[in-house]
Amino acid sequence: MPKKLRIGFIGTGGIAHAHMKAYKTFDDVEIVGGADIVPGKARAFLDKWELPNAKAFESAEELIKNVEMDGVTVCTYNTQHAIPTIMALNAGLHVQCEKPMSFTLQEGVEMVRAAKKNNRILTIGFQPRYDPVRQHVDQIIQSGELGKVYYVQSGGGRRHGIPGSTFVQAEKAGFGCLGDIGCYSIDECMHAIGYPKPLTVSAIATDYFGKNPKYWHDADTFNVDDFSVAFVRCEGGVTFVFRQAWAMHADSIGDTLWLGTEGGIKILNGYQQVNSPSRVRMFRDIGGNEVDSVVKPFYPFDAYNPIGKVDIFAAKVRDFCDAIKENRPAPIPGEEILYNQAICDGIYRSARLGEEVKIEIPEI
Ligand SMILES: NC(=O)c1ccc[n+]([C@@H]2O[C@H](COP(=O)([O-])OP(=O)(O)OC[C@H]3O[C@@H](n4cnc5c(N)ncnc54)[C@H](O)[C@@H]3O)[C@@H](O)[C@H]2O)c1
Repeated sequence: MPKKLRIGFIGTGGIAHAHMKAYKTFDDVEIVGGADIVPGKARAFLDKWELPNAKAFESAEELIKNVEMDGVTVCTYNTQHAIPTIMALNAGLHVQCEKPMSFTLQEGVEMVRAAKKNNRILTIGFQPRYDPVRQHVDQIIQSGELGKVYYVQSGGGRRHGIPGSTFVQAEKAGFGCLGDIGCYSIDECMHAIGYPKPLTVSAIATDYFGKNPKYWHDADTFNVDDFSVAFVRCEGGVTFVFRQAWAMHADSIGDTLWLGTEGGIKILNGYQQVNSPSRVRMFRDIGGNEVDSVVKPFYPFDAYNPIGKVDIFAAKVRDFCDAIKENRPAPIPGEEILYNQAICDGIYRSARLGEEVKIEIPEI
């Protein structure tokens, strides 16, 4: 029988369960251990998933030292992504790290350096990359049909969507809405156009909802952002306008938009649009005529599960495993996501300082 892939967990809180749910469906993977700094938490997690032979520890270091593994999934909160990831890479393990990549840009740089030095996979957990609609949009934009894309704007957001738990504690999450859902928006907008290098950021961040007991039950301890906007200048004359909200008095902060010299794509956001098959629109001029088309979702037949939706979370976990087995590069490479991290870091710094900041990415 071929050898099974041996995977361990670092951090066994909320999202670790979603990873485990996916892993439990894979016949070729064995979960061999877990670590969590809260005493007893890793053991309880492994027991819940009926893994009595998997070993539990109270530090990532002990797990890495004592258990033979091919890779780990890092499911700690944001300010604790870098340390265990670097430790695992230096021990020769492949890593799937949850999003956002880290809290600071420098942490992200150190993570990428460790992956490069040890020639190991460092992939970051942006599962919307596996959404067929998103892949369809990426494909159109990357085909060059829009000409030169010079402007991108993020959209979406939540009306009442402050998540609670460690997401609203600055010492654990670092940033709030920006690190939670903002990094997804940045990935959606920038991956499609090949992640041009960000150069400067001017941002603001506010906390009007999290700090108001009318909208958030724990307003006294809330200490992160719940809304941010930014103007990002990128290499190649690309402007990126970022907007994101955990809470607002609107059904959406606007549409997601890519404007090119030959065409544009818009993703309509908001309650009315979210499940609409005509949500994605493309605009062009053909023979002097204004042409507006609907970009139809394209689902490859075998991507359906029984309820008709693609399990994008399982797809991301599977891709990590396959990349290890097939000796492929990281599916969502740390080097690429470093630009995402640089934007998050720039937004955070600019909002704090109240002025535009330069983005300088150290050599890897
Ligand atoms: N991809 C997604 O859909 C998705 C969804 C939710 C959360 N996330 C991300 O997953 C991460 C974790 O979120 P969560 O909701 O599971 O948080 P959580 O607070 O529920 O769990 C984090 C766990 O990590 C443990 N931990 C912290 N530092 C550690 C360390 N150095 N070593 C070992 N264990 C450590 C904590 O004790 C805790 O049990 C966050 O970065 C978040 O952004 C991703």
